[in-house]
Amino acid sequence: MNHVNLPAEHPLVDGRTAASPVIRAYRGDRPPVTPVWFMRQAGRSLPEYRALRVGTAMLDACLDPELSSEITLQPWRRHAVDAAIFFSDIVVPLKLAGVDVDIVAGRGPVLGAPIRSAADVAALRPLHPDALAPIGAGVARTVAQLGSTPLIGFAGAPFTLAAYLVEGGPSKDHLRARTLMHADPATWHALMTWAADVTGAFLRAQILAGASAAQLFDSWAGSLSLADYTAHVAPYSKLAISHVTDLGMPIVHFGVGTGELLGAMRDVGADAVGIDDRIPLDEGIRRLGGNVPVQGNINPALLAAPWEVLEAHVLDVVERGRAAPAHVVNLGHGVPPETDPDVLSRIVALVHSA
Ligand code: CP3
Repeated sequence: MNHVNLPAEHPLVDGRTAASPVIRAYRGDRPPVTPVWFMRQAGRSLPEYRALRVGTAMLDACLDPELSSEITLQPWRRHAVDAAIFFSDIVVPLKLAGVDVDIVAGRGPVLGAPIRSAADVAALRPLHPDALAPIGAGVARTVAQLGSTPLIGFAGAPFTLAAYLVEGGPSKDHLRARTLMHADPATWHALMTWAADVTGAFLRAQILAGASAAQLFDSWAGSLSLADYTAHVAPYSKLAISHVTDLGMPIVHFGVGTGELLGAMRDVGADAVGIDDRIPLDEGIRRLGGNVPVQGNINPALLAAPWEVLEAHVLDVVERGRAAPAHVVNLGHGVPPETDPDVLSRIVALVHSA
């Protein structure tokens, strides 16, 4: 791997994380023990998270390096997962670029005003690199404690960001964004280019500060046809990824309900693909051609089922994952806030012994 543009003391360069199970698996080299981490492992399922967050708004917590670092480390200490994912949010770089966005508990990102017209998009400002200092500081504090466990940096893909920007908040079908790409392709191009640059810069800051892998979340891409995805979305995901390809870390790409898009999502430049729980993992592996490392896909609904039911499901996921060159066990989507955290710890032990 070529890491010439990473600092010599980066964990991928100085030997700390390059041979870790997660990094090996993302690169298609199956480690002896199957690695596991959970999307949204840091957050409301943990009492220690809820205690730390009292009195601090979500975005303020993301921009406080001490807090973001401590919250990132909480699930790693508790569950012995094979990776930590940096505690932040996909809308943080939008906020740092001056967008009026807040995260409303129980709802998600909400904008002061939606961004839909050519004039709205023209008024968007670039993200000044200095604004990313709290992100780099939070990452650096975190990797100083993680030792040989890799930190995964992440960013939202341009379409998922656009789904919030154009709608002005969470939506079910992301209909306005899906209309805009056809109704006003020039404005769509300008918006998606801006989003790709801003989210790419956010990802780059995390990698340079010490993250050893990158996950691009296109959570809402599953609302798109393959034709729309390929023509109006994939080029901008590629552009976002181009901000970090010179750094040589592995990239995993994930979306919800993307069974029809898996190959196209790989083709934007991903080393590994995350698969949600709507298709069996071995079917996803087959659709990817059998030669792509995968991540997934425990059904989050089963976290609240009796242990015997969940245990059989986890073992089935591990078994189906053997069809891929390598497999990182994860959920099909994030940890639900009401999850009993002890169940997650039990899954880690089970996967490691399977
Ligand atoms: O442990 C981790 O996975 C790292 C942290 C993380 C958060 N958001 C923290 C968070 C990550 C990777 C994200 C990414 C994110 N944010 C995505 C992509 C991943 C996915 O789940 O599909 C998306 C779509 C968002 C937008 C967003 N932010 C939503 C939908 C919500 C939930 C709203 C709610 O309250 O239910 C958020 C808020 C958010 N991001 C929380 C956390 C821990 C909850 C805020 C809180 O604790 O009050």
